Amino acid sequence: MPRDVESEKATIEGLPPLSKDGDSHVATSSSPEAEPMPLYRIPTTFLDERFRKMAPLHPYVLLLNQDDLDDCDWLEHVAFDPNEAASREKVEYRLHTSGELCSGIFSSAYPTSPEKLGELVRSRDFSQIDATDSNRRRVLLGHIIATKHFAPLVTDSSMDYPKDWRTNYELAPSSGTGHHEDGQTVCLHSLCVHPDFQDLGLGRVLLNSWTQRIKESRTAKRIALICRERYISFYERAGFREVGESKCQYGGGGWYDMVMEFSETGFENDVEE
Ligand SMILES: CC(C)(COP(=O)(O)OP(=O)(O)OC[C@H]1O[C@@H](n2cnc3c(N)ncnc32)[C@H](O)[C@@H]1OP(=O)(O)O)[C@@H](O)C(=O)NCCC(=O)NCCS
Repeated sequence: MPRDVESEKATIEGLPPLSKDGDSHVATSSSPEAEPMPLYRIPTTFLDERFRKMAPLHPYVLLLNQDDLDDCDWLEHVAFDPNEAASREKVEYRLHTSGELCSGIFSSAYPTSPEKLGELVRSRDFSQIDATDSNRRRVLLGHIIATKHFAPLVTDSSMDYPKDWRTNYELAPSSGTGHHEDGQTVCLHSLCVHPDFQDLGLGRVLLNSWTQRIKESRTAKRIALICRERYISFYERAGFREVGESKCQYGGGGWYDMVMEFSETGFENDVEE
């Protein structure tokens, strides 16, 4: 047996036996009657109801890029009200300029898969996952699309995009419109989950994994977003702070500013350059 496998076997054999009792996960060596629980089952003991609901989807999170444009454009318009959804060109601009700030939560399925996932795969042409298995499709169930800006809160100009970006691309546009590579605020413009898969915990998992990634990347001092009043508590539970009514008039206005601060000084002390 190779040496590393042997040492792994020794480590596993050295672990104390596990109990089936939910209140005492690790049985002591003095309880010989306890049957060992297979290691792969342990995490399910701790899963809350929401994780259990999403488990059959086997969701996974990936960075997005321009190749995801068709899926993101489709999802954006399925999930958002028409006056709030970003246009296809705006989504394309954002994936092009700041794909590394964008994440998608995916599942994979076949046209023959049961229930809603199979229905979804049959409803449109998702991309193939595996060159050797043309029927297995990668299904985008939720996305986060973001850019960076120098303003400490989301503004109408950070939500906009330069209309000449294809011919006159600037990484840090002097007009302040759209993505600004040197900005210290990551602006979350779009978080959505396909309506058939909402309330399973996907939005929360996607948001939490994304905020953690942005924080650890040290790419900015904060994350800012605007949201409707009904979503304030959803974002507060993810660690955002509500800081009042937004000045943004996008989609008819009526938004609230939310911030997740990574620096000690806070957005209030950050002046627009
Ligand atoms: C917001 C959204 C992404 C949440 O995704 P989701 O996968 O359904 O969220 P989760 O299952 O992780 O639920 C998280 C919490 O949000 C709550 N929530 C979900 N949809 C909600 C809604 N429409 N209004 C208020 N709260 C909502 C859930 O009740 C849950 O609360 P709980 O933890 O107390 O039970 C999803 O509802 C969505 O895509 N909405 C349409 C697009 C949109 O408006 N996005 C927000 C832009 S600000």
